[in-house]
Amino acid sequence: MGVRGKGRQYMSKKVLVTGGAGFIGSHLVDRLIQEGNQVVVIDNLSTGKRKQVNKKAVLYKMDIRSKRVERVFRKERPVGVIHLAAQMNVRHSTENPGFDADVNILGMLNILEHAVHNGVRKVSFASSGGAVYGEQEVYPAAESHRTEPLSPYGISKLAGEKYLAYYANTMGLRMVALRFANVYGPRQDSEGEAGVIAIFTKLMLEGGQPIINGTGKQTRDFVYVDDVVESIMATIGEDVQGIFNVGTGLESTVNECYGIIKSLTGSTCKDLYGAAKKGEQLRSVLNATKLRERFGWDPQVSLEEGLKLTVEYFQGQQK
Ligand SMILES: NC(=O)c1ccc[n+]([C@@H]2O[C@H](COP(=O)([O-])OP(=O)(O)OC[C@H]3O[C@@H](n4cnc5c(N)ncnc54)[C@H](O)[C@@H]3O)[C@@H](O)[C@H]2O)c1
Repeated sequence: MGVRGKGRQYMSKKVLVTGGAGFIGSHLVDRLIQEGNQVVVIDNLSTGKRKQVNKKAVLYKMDIRSKRVERVFRKERPVGVIHLAAQMNVRHSTENPGFDADVNILGMLNILEHAVHNGVRKVSFASSGGAVYGEQEVYPAAESHRTEPLSPYGISKLAGEKYLAYYANTMGLRMVALRFANVYGPRQDSEGEAGVIAIFTKLMLEGGQPIINGTGKQTRDFVYVDDVVESIMATIGEDVQGIFNVGTGLESTVNECYGIIKSLTGSTCKDLYGAAKKGEQLRSVLNATKLRERFGWDPQVSLEEGLKLTVEYFQGQQK
């Protein structure tokens, strides 16, 4: 049984969501508002979209690295922050590690500094289970798995967790870091290269020709965005602290996803394979037993169902 409909163990006060115009963030904002929370969003709209932000939320178009962030905290006085804004493209992080660190580390520190000095009691942070463990020794990986990130993005996410723990230990801030697996679903940006599912789906619907990187036998733990939002909601209460994996525990190959999307879209594209991405992990899958046992969180949407919902969304976008 999932946590949906389990009642409101949330803050039901004012919550600041950074990255609230993005893929995961916009779904989260909708859900927070549905639960009666007031929501403030900081987003520079670099990959996020204004039209995705719930009309009931207050949007500040602003960079998380900006000095103006302080004014937002002073004016809005949120009790909780959910920090999702990030440079989240692994390849960009390898090409420009400085930019990645600027946004993901210094930007996060800017948020944390203003949070602790303006009465924020709890920060939830979007970390990455796909990136912080590196090549896994155990499948699926639990939170105790050693962390050897393979990319600057993984390093900056791990650093974010450590800074969060520092603020929790020294300033009494409450903290949760959620290590998401590969999240997919409606509103995911298919322009970038982060979401293989969004990219395949959009290309196939447009009659384009996707290219599968490498053999396509690389595996990922694909988790549907609504299930990810529920993991944030389940851990949002002030009493909850810690690091939690958020994944299905199921490994699916890129080829499997490709095949399902191809049949759902009716695409007649060729099955073309390109060069493997440098440094790409071969297998990635997370053990979310901790989250399941403590909060009854359980992914509710199967890959087939989630892909169907995703394809339907992108079909709707074409009209
Ligand atoms: N999608 C995944 O599979 C996945 C997996 C693991 C972790 N995450 C993490 O979850 C979070 C949300 O990811 P997403 O998939 O929704 O990506 P996204 O790109 O859709 O969302 C990120 C949002 O942050 C905003 N943003 C980026 N840089 C900013 C800055 N400097 N100042 C203000 N706003 C900025 C973007 O405009 C966007 O709206 C990120 O922290 C990402 O690292 C995502």
